[in-house]
Order: sequence, then C-alpha cells, then structure tokens
Amino acid sequence: MSSVKNLAILLALFASYIVQSEAVCGYELIKLVIDNNTGRLKTVEMNGVSENIDQTFGMYKTARSCHYIFRQDADLELVEDAFDFTVYEGESVKEVHQHVNEWISQVIRIYEGVNRVEFEWLVGPVPIDDELGKEIVTIFKSGISSGGVFYTDSNGREMMKREKDKREDFSPDLSEQPGSGNYYPVTSRMALQDSSKRMVLLNDRSQGGASLEDGRLEMMLHRRHIFADGSGAAEAINEQQFGKGLIARGKLFLYLNAVEDGATASERVAEKEIHLPFWKFFSKSSNIQSDVTKTLSDFNDLPQSVHLLTLEPYSKDEILLRLENFLDQTEGKVVSFSIRQIFDDLGGLEIRETTLDGNLPLSDMKRLKFHHDDSGPSHSVPEYFISLHKPLAADKSQDASEFSVTLKPMQIRTFIIKKE
Ligand SMILES: *[C@@H]1O[C@H](CO)[C@@H](O)[C@H](O)[C@H]1NC(C)=O
Repeated sequence: MSSVKNLAILLALFASYIVQSEAVCGYELIKLVIDNNTGRLKTVEMNGVSENIDQTFGMYKTARSCHYIFRQDADLELVEDAFDFTVYEGESVKEVHQHVNEWISQVIRIYEGVNRVEFEWLVGPVPIDDELGKEIVTIFKSGISSGGVFYTDSNGREMMKREKDKREDFSPDLSEQPGSGNYYPVTSRMALQDSSKRMVLLNDRSQGGASLEDGRLEMMLHRRHIFADGSGAAEAINEQQFGKGLIARGKLFLYLNAVEDGATASERVAEKEIHLPFWKFFSKSSNIQSDVTKTLSDFNDLPQSVHLLTLEPYSKDEILLRLENFLDQTEGKVVSFSIRQIFDDLGGLEIRETTLDGNLPLSDMKRLKFHHDDSGPSHSVPEYFISLHKPLAADKSQDASEFSVTLKPMQIRTFIIKKE
C-alpha cells in the first residue's frame, strides 16, 4: 500500500517537473521562455510587459486556392508534434533553433540591447503528394483580450482597424470562407491590443494576415498549389528549384508593449531599421572617386522622426530630395529643421519645392476640387486645392533661415536642387 502511495507521489512530482520544465534565454531588455515539452515559445518579457505567447505553425489544405485567391476547403491544421530545439547563447546574440518537421524550421533570435524578437522561418518544399495544395501559416497566440479587433498597416503608413467577420459598409457572408474571408494585406505591420498590452508583428515582405481568435495573430508564410482557376494565370502556383518545390525564408519581428500614448512610435522606428538596414561597402581607397565622397552629406542632424525618402539624380544638374516625417499625430509632433547644410554639401545653387512626383513647382499647383454626384457645396466658381504652406524656394546667396523645412506628422515634402 505504502509503496503504491510512494509511487503516486513520485509520479506526481515527475509530472510537475515535466509541466514546469522550461528553457529561459534573455538579456537585460528581453526574456524568452521556451517550453521544454513542446519546444515552442511560451512567454515573452519586454518593455516591462510579460505575456504568454505560444507560437506555432499550421496549414490550410485546399484543392481550390491559386495565385490570386486563398480559398479554404477545410479548417486550419496545426503542427501537433513537439519541436526539437537547441538554445545557443552568445554575448551579443542568443538563438533558439527549432526543428518543426521535415520541411519547416525556425531560428528565434534576440540581440543584446535590442527589444524585439526575430523569427527567421524556413519553409519548404511544401509536400503535395496528397494532391492537395497548402497555405502555410504561423500563429502567435497570446492572452490579450482583443475583442475581435486587430490592425494592419495601409502601405506602411497609417494603421487600419479590422474587425473579424465585419465590413465597414455591408454584412459579409463568410460561412464558406471563415478564415480566408478575414485575411488582410500586411505590408509592414499587424497588431492587436487590449486596455493594457499590445502585441505587434513586423514583417520583411508583404504577406497576408488575420486574427481569427482574440489575442491571436496569424501570418501566411508560403503557398504551393496544383490548381489554376484560369483567372489570369494559366499555371498553378507551384514553383520549382532543383526539381523540388521552392524553399522560402523570411523574418518576422515580435514586439510586446504597454498600451500608452505614443507607444507605437518605437514600432515605426523598428520598421525603418528592418526595411532600411545599413549597407556596407568595402573597396580600395584609391578606387573611390573624389566626387563621390564629396557628394556624401551627413544626414545625422535630421530630427529622429525624419526619413530621407529620396535622394536621386533628377536631370544632369539636378537632384531630387524627399523628406518625410514618419510618425503620425499620436506618435510625434511637428518638426522644423534647416536643410542648408545638405544643400551646400550637394553643391546646390538653387532649390525649389515641387509636388510629390517632382513634376510641377508646388507654387503652380492648382487642382480642381471635384464634387462627385453633386455632393458638397455647389459653387458657380470652381474651387481649387493649392499648397497649404509657402513653397520653399531659395538660392545659394540667401540666408540659412530661407532653407527651413517644417514637417507635420506623416507629411512628405519634395524638392529639386539645382547644382553646379
Ligand atoms: C530545458 O531545456 C534547456 C535547453 O535545452 C535545458 O538547458 C534545461 O536543462 C531543460 N530543463 C529541464 C528542467 O529539463
């Protein structure tokens, strides 16, 4: 009797040991907990927030998806088996290598001094021997009570509110496509939140994403299909390399934050760092032409929210310059700075401001205010859009104050510099 009891106690102890077994890996800014039993991410701590986040992979098997359309045939199938994993710990980088199955693996990476988690996924060749196409997705499941709402970016700029099973202007019938009918384009960012916590995914390419359950973000990673519906492309999306289906590799970045005014500004800065990494060039010093080094200006003096959007030759003796304030009105403020130094470094003689495309002097812009369907006030005299600020125009002889540029949140201004 007592030995049976002892055995029960031992078993209970063993079970609790298994339940609690986990691998912790982190730096001062960030901590990850991996569940040893499943090999999956379990908890993330950063920005003073801790949240249980379970990340896994899944697929939609379908015989009807094609290039342009993700058509569901069945529900999402999650990878059930535990992942094999190994943790590598370095002074500047720590990595969790996960072997998910024969054709999915992933490296979760954190860097000293950087508060975001990088997920480098490797998917393919997607098997189709069962004659079914597949949509491969990854899922981040948290306990955040998002109430059916999530956000996706509008071409990398402002965020659009998305509500599960809803459309702004009509009631959709999603009975046949409950998952795919809730997918939205994600060009740079996808997020959900409740009153205290916010979970964000940044990506390195345009993808489709959804939030099909509260607290859950889903992103499509790879697709392979054997069906073509003939609506534009007469072939199935079944690319091959070395006689096998394509292997795709990419990165997602996870960000966890407290919900506060302006908290999303750091997401935008991270986005810029991801999409515009430093390019390093090495060459023999004697090969560098002196005029190349001369035209390199120092852009470090620009305010932090100002992004040098374009710097390119416009004509033989002109340069096109675009500057953007990339924070929106909740994240940043109006910024003013002088571009006299940049103008001088580029050998400028004159500068003029133009419309966004560079084609028309901004001072000449006069665009008809068009009222569709007789909406809006009807005026006998037509109304026009003109520039809301005084377009910048200056030449070399003028004072530095004439080169002052003010940018409102999200504003872009375009200039053409005529040089020597
Ligand atoms: C969990 O996994 C990590 C990494 O493999 C290992 O170092 C640790 O000892 C494991 N913990 C337990 C309790 O098995």
